[in-house]
Formats: sequence, structure tokens, C-alpha cells
Amino acid sequence: MSDQDKGGIAFIDGEYQPISEARIPLLDWGFLRSDANQDTVSVWKGLFFRLEDHLDRFEQNIAKLRMTCPHNRDQLRSIVSECVCRSGFENAYVQMIMTRGVPPVGIRDPRRCENRFYAFCVPYVWIATPEQQNKGLHLIVSSICRIPSESVDPTLKHYHWLDFQMGLFEAFDRGGDTVVLVNRNGDLTEGPGFNLFLVQNGSLTTPDSGVLNGMTRRTLFELCAELKIQCQAAQIPATQLTNVDEVFLSSTAGGLIPITTINNQVIGDGNPGPVTRQLRNFYWRKRETGWHGTPVGP
Ligand SMILES: Cc1ncc(COP(=O)(O)O)c(C=O)c1O
Repeated sequence: MSDQDKGGIAFIDGEYQPISEARIPLLDWGFLRSDANQDTVSVWKGLFFRLEDHLDRFEQNIAKLRMTCPHNRDQLRSIVSECVCRSGFENAYVQMIMTRGVPPVGIRDPRRCENRFYAFCVPYVWIATPEQQNKGLHLIVSSICRIPSESVDPTLKHYHWLDFQMGLFEAFDRGGDTVVLVNRNGDLTEGPGFNLFLVQNGSLTTPDSGVLNGMTRRTLFELCAELKIQCQAAQIPATQLTNVDEVFLSSTAGGLIPITTINNQVIGDGNPGPVTRQLRNFYWRKRETGWHGTPVGP
């Protein structure tokens, strides 16, 4: 049976179960109000990538949301590890989630909810198909603005995704594969599940605000430092996309993925550029040597 057919494992209410049988309570405000935070860590060839950094981000974000996790750090580590062990996957996508929980009947006060923790493990997720990864994606700059940072903190890993979801519909209608949203000033922010990088004259720029501090984005800064490639975070007007040598996205779901067309305009010769290819190969090579790796298991 393939990993895809096996489905995966969920952890709910202290029990491990097949993901196909996993259920959440309908009245959980995580579902009814998007009052939730998650973090997703990948496993490649049996190694978690940056597990402690993901746990740090998860714990910091649930504190910002004034939630209390029923599990301490050691327990979180062993729950996610157990999910992967039980699934039997070598390459996996592991999500931990805190929700506000279910309120007492008739109560509308979020302080009265008992916060809930969930986790699941599924086969490794790629944001693009193998063909798209080789050829590069067609990106559409959406007419929809990202939810303002002043309204919902983008450094949380939240489920306020309706802007992204409708942006994806717009992208598909316009012949694209995926979408990036701008802020109200027309500066680039991020896309559904990824950060964005522009390459110009051999140096990299990524939006400095209105985005998740993606773990892969952070990894890119480290890889660039090692390769002596200049990499900076800055405000980037979307119009700058008409004047770039290369563009790629970064995500736990696939690492670096090239973008070779933007709003129906081909970038360069239409193939993934040399800097993108160099960084992509370096990223996977480093991962395979165990860089930032933690073995799955007790
Ligand atoms: C909105 C958003 N931005 C960026 C990212 C990339 O973050 P990471 O590299 O930690 O996967 C994600 C990941 O899911 C995301 O949801």
C-alpha cells in the first residue's frame, strides 16, 4: 500500500487514530471562528526539519493568542514523533494545532473555553506537482488584498485563508497556478502557504512585513549567508515583479519552488534561473545530510 493510500495518523483527545476516522467537535471555535493557530513541520528521510524552531514558533504564537496548551514541550515532541512512527512514513507533513475549544453552553466569552490540542501526520505535501517544480509555476498577483496586519497578526500561523482561497480562484480563472496577495499599498506580501523571493543581479529580496516568518524563509537567509549570496527583507512594490531575473516561493511544503511566469509574462527565458536552482539543490542536499535534523522516534 502506498503512503498516500495509508492516509495518516491523527492525535485527538489523547488518542492516536487513523486520519480517516479523526473528528473534531463541531462547536469548537477553531472551526466556527477560525480561532486557532497551527504549525507544520516536515519529515524527510526520517528526520524532522527544525523541530525545535517549529515548537518555539508554535508556543510563542499560542501565547500571543492567550491560549494554554494542555501539553508541555516534551509531550508535544513525543506526540508528533509518535504520529510519524505510527504512520510509517519516511517523508511526512506534520501539523500541530491549538484551538480556542468549545465554550460552555450559552457562553460567548473566549476566556471560558478549554483550549484544545490536535495533531496529525500525512504524507509529505508538495505545493506543486513534479512537472511544475521543474518547469516553474505561473504566479498571478491578485486584485485581493491580504487581511491587514493590523487586523490579524500575520506572524501567527492562522486559518484566515478566505483571501488566499478566493485569490486562488482568481488565479485559476486567469490561467495561473498560484497567487500572491498585496497589501493596501500595493506591496507584495505572501501566498497560500508560502513566502516569496525575488532575485535581481544575483541578490535576493523578500517582503519584510505582512508575512509569516516562514521557517523556509529563515532557512534561505542561512543558506545565502553560507553561499555568500546577498539576501535582504524589504518593502517590495508589486510593480517590481516586472523587473526581476528570477522569482521563487519558499515553503515547508516543497522547499523552494521556481516561478517562471507572472501575470502571463514569462520571466527571463522561461526556465528556473541559476540562483533558484543553486539554492534549491543546496537546500535539499543540506537536508539530506541531516542539517537541522532530529530523528523521528523516542
Ligand atoms: C501564509 C503562509 N506564509 C508562509 C508560509 C511558509 O512558511 P514555512 O516556510 O514555515 O512553511 C506558510 C506555510 O504554511 C503560510 O501558511
